Amino acid sequence: MSKLMDSIYDKAKSLYKHIVLPEGEEERIINAAKAITERRIAKITLIGREKVIKEKAGCDLCDIEIIDPSVSPKTSKYIDLLYELRKAKGMTRENAEKLVMTDNLYYGCLMVKSGDADGMVGGSVRSTGDVLRPALQIIKTKTGVNTVSSCFIMSMPESATGHIYGQNGVLVFGDCAVNILPTSEQLADIAIASADSAVNIAGISDPEVALLSFSTKGSAKHENVDKVTEAVKIVHKKQPELSCDGELQLDAALVESVAKLKAPGSKVAGKANVLIFPDLQSGNIGYKLVQRFSGAEAIGPVCQGFAKPVNDLSRGCSVEDVVGVVAVTALQC
Ligand code: ACO
Repeated sequence: MSKLMDSIYDKAKSLYKHIVLPEGEEERIINAAKAITERRIAKITLIGREKVIKEKAGCDLCDIEIIDPSVSPKTSKYIDLLYELRKAKGMTRENAEKLVMTDNLYYGCLMVKSGDADGMVGGSVRSTGDVLRPALQIIKTKTGVNTVSSCFIMSMPESATGHIYGQNGVLVFGDCAVNILPTSEQLADIAIASADSAVNIAGISDPEVALLSFSTKGSAKHENVDKVTEAVKIVHKKQPELSCDGELQLDAALVESVAKLKAPGSKVAGKANVLIFPDLQSGNIGYKLVQRFSGAEAIGPVCQGFAKPVNDLSRGCSVEDVVGVVAVTALQC
């Protein structure tokens, strides 16, 4: 386990938040719930049929709450809440009832919205879209934030780069999992949220945010470059104290000697530790390149911008992956 994950677990233990896992009948989730409870990382609620969960667990689950939507006394409250939240969008009471009774991801989001849990983690069985859609519809964004996005915390092994990049080899990459073609306003939101995650989750004390492009400071002219420079202006307006610059090529963002040549005078160039990709294709490919070629640990995707935390697992996740994402979610509560 990396030092970074160690410190995330320690912080989660001290917070001891309540996280709901809607895919409660999935074996990896049950085993993760046991490990999280034993290690006192969070209080866990599993959603699913009690008999099925207990049979699969093969042992007592005394400190883990199990909620079965078909018998829970809170189910009707959640149906009412979903109907109220979505009726203006055309949802009928029948639709609301069907979703709450059949889709545990909706149920989990309604628990979080109602304050009956602090955060939710799903996606070991269902797709990213299936996890994010109910959260976008029910939990929505934090006040003052218009965009839900994601980041990866990349922890580079010392052997690969000698820890010359980021803070002791730790960098934050955004957005690599949610917004396919972000506008300038969305890129600005991604930059601000990623800086926040850098401080609160990755332990980066002074975020230096670079908005990346194939151009550095006007070296190329294109509407895609304009979108990035416009985003930088929006960040400066929304959060003047945040150290942020762009458009920068990756080498100008990371390497001091290149920064001196291509972006003299930039406070961020040469020392960026938060990298913002211009779209999802570059972001998703970028984090996977670094992960595969350097052996970096990629913690995420960490969703950011929700009013209360929801995170998505990879369907190929291991039990320890689930434990890690629950700990990260606890830090966002
Ligand atoms: N931020 C805030 N609100 C949003 C966002 C966003 N990024 N996206 C959608 N919404 C809102 C919409 O305004 C809408 O609100 P409303 O219904 O109250 O009016 C609601 O959420 C639902 O919007 P839809 O457009 O119906 O949602 P959509 O079907 O587009 O799903 C999703 C959103 C799932 C995030 C979509 O953008 C998506 O598929 N993104 C890519 C996910 C992906 O495949 N990632 C790669 C794999 S992950 C990996 O490799 C690590």
